[in-house]
Amino acid sequence: MDMRAEAPSPRTERARRRGGPVFSIKGLLKVFGDDKPYVALKDVELTVENGEFLCLLGASGCGKSTLLNLLAGFEKPSGGELLYNSKPIAGPGRERVMFFQDANAALLPWQTVQQNVEFGLKLQGLLHNQGWRERIEECLELVGLAEHRHKVPSEISGGMRQRLQIARALAVEPDVLLMDEPFAALDAITRRRMHEALLDVWQREKRTVVFVTHDIMEALTLADRIAVMSVGPGSRIAHIIEIKQPRPRNPADPELGHLFAHLEHLLHGVSPEESMQ
Ligand SMILES: Nc1ncnc2c1ncn2[C@@H]1O[C@H](COP(=O)(O)OP(=O)(O)OP(=O)(O)O)[C@@H](O)[C@H]1O
Ligand SMILES: [Mg+2]
Repeated sequence: MDMRAEAPSPRTERARRRGGPVFSIKGLLKVFGDDKPYVALKDVELTVENGEFLCLLGASGCGKSTLLNLLAGFEKPSGGELLYNSKPIAGPGRERVMFFQDANAALLPWQTVQQNVEFGLKLQGLLHNQGWRERIEECLELVGLAEHRHKVPSEISGGMRQRLQIARALAVEPDVLLMDEPFAALDAITRRRMHEALLDVWQREKRTVVFVTHDIMEALTLADRIAVMSVGPGSRIAHIIEIKQPRPRNPADPELGHLFAHLEHLLHGVSPEESMQ
């Protein structure tokens, strides 16, 4: 069943009326270092539409996190155009939340699971707003951490810490979720559960998601479009593949099999014939 046929939320309606892409990237350049400059990104062209689920796919070190950090406003472009809702990105904003690759860096170690979610709201000035307790409860339930609410991060597993990060980001109801390989450390079953939970949230609340991964199957499970990055230095968006298969997607779907082979060819130069064996 294509959940996207469901009635849109008021948020989606507002977003639709606003029109135009959420992110518009033209001729983007990112150079690190002064004395020994490294050109991480060059000539990046990409637009991300409102409500879209876009996956950035690329090999390790190609610049996926760099691009996401630029979208979050944590890094400044060295050249080119980088717009959020038609305005240049000047810094971080509460409408764009980031999930980090490393949950440990993102969580407060001395605070409990519940306090960490509350802290996310507090940072954005949303604590004690109407319905805040219910929202925290909903998010903890969603990621399966309700029974672990009184533990601190060191008392829960790595996967649970990642889920906690997700609960904390969702609680502030951002417009855009920027996710940097958030499920890479999870076991296969938990990972599948997180994919379902994320798609459920995305479909219900119609947020825009930019999701970084180097896992082709993960991109095929989640994305509306997959932007494939070339290897660095000077990485750019080399290909954009649209995935029209309805969700939930079945990995055994032959069409996905063909797309997998095609993407493997684009990423690693593996021929489609080899990949299908
Ligand atoms: N702050 C920095 N200073 C200098 N070079 C950097 C910095 N951040 C990233 N780089 C370089 O830019 C390139 C892209 O790094 P980035 O972390 O964006 O890659 P990635 O695609 O996210 O890789 P991975 O899949 O391993 O997370 C790498 O060569 C990296 O060494
Ligand atoms: Mg990275």
